[in-house]
Order: sequence, then structure tokens, then C-alpha cells
Amino acid sequence: MPSTLPDGDPAPTTGELPDSALSGLGERPFGFYVHVPFCVTRCGYCDFNTYTAAELGPGASQRDYADTVVEEVRLARRVLGERELPVDTVFFGGGTPTLLPPEDLARILAAIDSEFGLRPGAEVTTEANPESVDPSSLEKLRHGGFNRISFGMQSAREHVLRVLDRKHTPGRPAAAVREAREAGFEHVNLDLIYSTPGESDDDWRASLAAAIEAGPDHVSAYSLIVEEGTRLAARIRRGELPLPDDDVAADRYLIADELLAEAGFHWYEVSNWAVSEEARCRHNLLYWTGGDWWAAGPGAHSHVGGTRWWNVKHPAAYAQRLAAGVSPAHSREVLDAGDRVAERLMLELRLVTGYPLADVAPGARPVVAGALARGLLEPEPFKAGLMVLTLRGRLLADALVRDLLV
Ligand SMILES: C[S@@+](CC[C@H](N)C(=O)[O-])C[C@H]1O[C@@H](n2cnc3c(N)ncnc32)[C@H](O)[C@@H]1O
Ligand code: SF4
Repeated sequence: MPSTLPDGDPAPTTGELPDSALSGLGERPFGFYVHVPFCVTRCGYCDFNTYTAAELGPGASQRDYADTVVEEVRLARRVLGERELPVDTVFFGGGTPTLLPPEDLARILAAIDSEFGLRPGAEVTTEANPESVDPSSLEKLRHGGFNRISFGMQSAREHVLRVLDRKHTPGRPAAAVREAREAGFEHVNLDLIYSTPGESDDDWRASLAAAIEAGPDHVSAYSLIVEEGTRLAARIRRGELPLPDDDVAADRYLIADELLAEAGFHWYEVSNWAVSEEARCRHNLLYWTGGDWWAAGPGAHSHVGGTRWWNVKHPAAYAQRLAAGVSPAHSREVLDAGDRVAERLMLELRLVTGYPLADVAPGARPVVAGALARGLLEPEPFKAGLMVLTLRGRLLADALVRDLLV
């Protein structure tokens, strides 16, 4: 949930969607994202749409937030009509969702259930900072219907956590995983960040070992992105910290894949590993495979049937709109056929399930042949008509997608 909004056409104040978006709704997987835009402090590298208490200003409060989101859930039902639309996945992200009382998160989830109905076995995830939960809050979340939790671990090294401005101790994520398991969470993810300035290969190995040892069934590992306008970017510009190096990041990726694979975690998306198919994040898979989702909360981006829209960014503007009975949607765009093909290629080529060769534009076939010759695509699936990235291909995924789209 990046903090800047793209351009687009103004969205209608009713939130109404074009007919093209509504046709076929219910035939594709349907998910709900709930953005919770609050953090205790802002990490120096983070560009997400989130506010500390000091930054929030008047017109919005954490206390009233759940009621405001429930209003948007009701609006979603009116906009999407009365058709059967059971929810396959729900994902609460942030910000720090677990800064809100668990009862508030459960109340929002209950509103989604009562308006739409959760499909039996629906995946319901919340993100959490490791220091923002305890056994009692985890139990309440579990009883409230959450069955998956994703902790922002980032690193097991104190000096790395310090550069990232993280507030938890190196041992806290493992304790949080244990508490989540004891509370009955079926699925637990740990998010890691690599190539932070000052991190060595050994630090990264130690972080991976600690993450594996903690016993999650899913690990996400992202290279640190230096976002414009963040404190991290300013520190790098002033020469206080070195710029993360692409070659170092590539080496760290190889280390991650090696250690995770040894421990039984298999990649299923370039930055995501899981111990089994059931442990894959179904909500993210819905994003990556052209599903429909309604995203509630300030700055949240929704997608239904080729129409994308995004809400006003500030929590005060968001609350004001909903209090006035007006849709919080700020702008929208209807994707044309070309946009949809490009998006599908960009997302599906990053998946272990691959991208069908038959769907590659004729003009891009020489690029595909070159990628196979350079060892970027697995030969066996290729023979069966699928482009699946090799390990080397995963390192060069972005460049390959760019080449395929010219
Ligand atoms: C935005 S956070 C929300 C969840 C929670 N507040 C946390 O920090 O774990 C989701 C994930 O995005 C990661 N993230 C945010 N900014 C990033 C950046 N610039 N580079 C890499 N990962 C980033 C966070 O570290 C975190 O694991
Ligand atoms: S806690 Fe998470 S969302 Fe909040 S500032 Fe840090 S990375 Fe961003």
C-alpha cells in the first residue's frame, strides 16, 4: 500500500462500477483487503500509507476506525449488488493492524461475513509487528476468525534491526510464532528483508536460520527497497549509510533460496516460499492471478473485473467521506486489453506455476528463445508449453518481463 496515489479518472461519489467490472463477478475468486493505517513509530525505510499518533492530526482516530471501515464494507455490498459473492480470502494489512484491539479487527471481519459470507475454509490473515501481540490478543484474534498471521521479522541481528528502526528484540519474532501456534493459528508467515546497509552474508544466514528455527510454514524475503522521501533515502544521500548493492542483493537471494529449500520451503513466487501448497498465501495468489478484491481503508487499491480504483489517502478524508455517505474512492482506471496482458505476464511469470507459451505475443518469441538459451527458463516445463523461471531466471525476472513487453 504505497503512500502516493497514481493518476486516474475521478471515481463516482456513489462508488458505482462500470458494467464491464460487474460482469463475471462471482465466477472469479473474491477477496477483501482491509488497510489499517496506524503505526507506533515509522520505520525509516517504509513508504506505506501509515500514520503515527503524532502524524494523524484531527478528523480521524484509531478508536473510531473499525466503525468507519464497517461503513465501507456496507457500501461494498451496495456497489457489488445482491449477487452471491462468498469471500475466499481476507487480508488485514498495514500499517500495524494489531495496534487496534483484537475486538475491532474481529468486528470488521464479522461485518464482511455478515454482508458477503465467508466461504467455508476461507483464509483470514492479519499482519502483525512481533511486539504488537501477546498470547491473549492472539487468542482473541483466533477466536475472532483469523487463521493466518504474518509477522514482520526482517532480521535476527540487532544492528540490522537498528538500521531498519525496528522496535522488537531479535528473539521476539520466534516467541510470537510460538504464541501464535499455541493460540491455534494454522498458518504463520515471517517477513524478512535482505541487503540492509551493514548486513553481512553471515548476518543474513543467521536471520534465515532463526526464521526457519521459529517454525513458520511460510517465509517472504524482500530486498530492501530505498523509497524516495524516506528517512533511509535521506541517510544514504547524506553518505551516512551505503546504497544497497544489486550484486549483494542477488547473492543474498541465492543464500535464501538455498537455506529455505534445505529446510523444506519451496518457492512459489519469486519472493515467497512455503512448506506445502496449503501453506501458500491464497490472498496474494488471488492478486497475482487476476482475482477480484475490494480493498477497504485509506489509500487502499481495489480491483474488480479489470477496473482498478483507489481510496482517498488520508484517514481523516476517508472518515469524512464515509460519514457523509459518500464513497471514499478517489480515482479509478479501466484496464484495456493491452494493460491486462502486460499485468498478467508481469505477475504470473513470477509464479512457479509459470506462464503459457501460447499466450506470448508473436513479437516476443525471440526473447523467449533467448531466455531459454541463457538458462532463465526451465527446459522441462518449456517442452510442455510453460515458461517457468529457473533460479537464475528468478534473479532476472524483472528484466525478462521488461524485454518480453517491448
Ligand atoms: C508495510 S509492512 C506492514 C506490516 C507490519 N507493519 C510490518 O512492518 O511487518 C509489510 C512488509 O513490508 C515490508 N516493507 C516495507 N517497506 C519496505 C521496503 N522499503 N523494502 C522492503 N520491504 C519493505 C515490511 O518490512 C513488512 O515486512
Ligand atoms: S511497522 Fe510496518 S508499516 Fe509501520 S512503518 Fe514499519 S514497516 Fe511500515
